[in-house]
Amino acid sequence: MQALVLAGGEGTRLRPLTADVPKPVLPLAGRPFLGFMLDWLGRHGVDDVLLSCGFLSDAVEEALGDDWRGIRLRYVREREPLGTGGPLRLAYDEGLLDERLYMLNGDVLCDFDLTAQRERHAETGALATIALTAVEDTSSYGVVPTAPDGQVEAFLEKRPGPAPTNRVNAGCYLLEREVAERIPSGAAASMEHDVFPSLCMNGLYGFHAEGYWMDIGTPERYLEATWDLLEGRIASDLPERDAGGSLVGEGSVVEGARIGPKAVVGERCVVGAGTVVDHAVLHDGVTVGERCALERCIVARDVRIEDGARVEAGAVIGAGAVVAAGATVGAGARVEPGERVG
Ligand code: GDD
Ligand code: MG
Repeated sequence: MQALVLAGGEGTRLRPLTADVPKPVLPLAGRPFLGFMLDWLGRHGVDDVLLSCGFLSDAVEEALGDDWRGIRLRYVREREPLGTGGPLRLAYDEGLLDERLYMLNGDVLCDFDLTAQRERHAETGALATIALTAVEDTSSYGVVPTAPDGQVEAFLEKRPGPAPTNRVNAGCYLLEREVAERIPSGAAASMEHDVFPSLCMNGLYGFHAEGYWMDIGTPERYLEATWDLLEGRIASDLPERDAGGSLVGEGSVVEGARIGPKAVVGERCVVGAGTVVDHAVLHDGVTVGERCALERCIVARDVRIEDGARVEAGAVIGAGAVVAAGATVGAGARVEPGERVG
């Protein structure tokens, strides 16, 4: 079974983390995000994945290579960003598409029953079947009302105001190759604005999915997904967590520091005595001095945080930045890669 994964967005809402690491391979709980997606796809019989890349495509290939635990990985590179629909047509034009395939947004952490979705798709004879998930706040998603027989009545992408249903597009589709033929060649197109609206009540079905689902595309949701993985709310083969539910990567030295609850320390980090890393995420190679306080923040690789500094909730620090001794990075602040906070 084949899947096409959209992995070419710029990840603007996760900047500065995505300045040099594309969102799909950003480390999540210590491993490239797409690893979780590929494991999930593999459990549902997917053995052939097309990774649709544009922005920083080499970094995606470097992180994943051409094989993930027995799944063949191939890269489809765009010269210009083709949006969410154009990449499907590009893969078609390159002769790569099977007759029926999954298509996924490359930033959803999820354990839906893809096999059941595929069965439903075959039963209805749909051209496309979209997994739908229930959310409290629909405003950042595509809202998808369906008729009693499952056909999609409308596709309402990120519309303000009251929504007709709390079921939204989970970014996980089953498609007939024919769908690609309806997209113009060589131009950007949008699944959400062009392709799906044109198929409403005309071959497009919804599949009400149950289970865990999170779009990791903002710092808040990236942290939520991290904590959920640490707690085991979604299945994974992450290493055993410690008593406080935290993970400390290989080659890291954290003696005398309090790591957790629910923190992630990457590989080759040093965290000094008296420092607290509470619900925070450190990527690889981060150095933190003594008596620092890091709370609910994300610290990219090779950052240096000096003695007595504080990093408050929601802050995101870009790769290689320095936070000077005694300085505070305030709640929700963004520190650019390489910047020095005095
Ligand atoms: N190859 C390629 N080229 N991929 C792209 C491009 C592009 O030009 N633009 C975006 N992508 C990828 C992103 O990397 C991401 O994996 C996926 O397409 C979706 O883009 P996002 O930017 O994450 O969209 P969103 O989260 O705002 O909204 C989408 O996902 C929601 C569910 O998470 C929509 O599909 C919504 O309808 C949906 O509810
Ligand atoms: Mg997204």
